[in-house]
Amino acid sequence: MNENAASAHAPLISEAREAATRAYSPYSRFPVGAALLTDTGEIVRGCNVENISYGLTNCAERSALFSAISQGKAPRSFKAMAIYAPNVELISPCGACRQVLLELMAPDCVVICQGSDPRATRHWTLEQLLPGAFNSF
Ligand code: THU
Repeated sequence: MNENAASAHAPLISEAREAATRAYSPYSRFPVGAALLTDTGEIVRGCNVENISYGLTNCAERSALFSAISQGKAPRSFKAMAIYAPNVELISPCGACRQVLLELMAPDCVVICQGSDPRATRHWTLEQLLPGAFNSF
């Protein structure tokens, strides 16, 4: 993706940065924020929410998607998601989130990942994130 396309997503990345400040991550000390862009231009944020029973933790990506669906936004209407994590050079979504992204994001969406080094920012398609996926859409 060229520089113009990358800068077009700068506001969404800012939203993901803001979302990361809301993270509840006392166990990992690894805050993550996500920001979703809907087809009507709305933005829905999510952050990771951890639990003393570690497996109950919800990642930022799923928090944003579940929040958007809970607000009545249509599945597969989300054009872009920005993900930001300050404590790693470049964040990459976990396998579980990739499967959920595949189900709920628009098929032609872009997933923008940024960590502490903005020069390392990456843009992914769903096919790149989960090639040959189990999928019925
Ligand atoms: N985490 C996310 O929220 N998103 C990712 O893409 C990777 C990991 C969270 C889960 C856990 O709260 C913490 O980061 C450390 O794994």
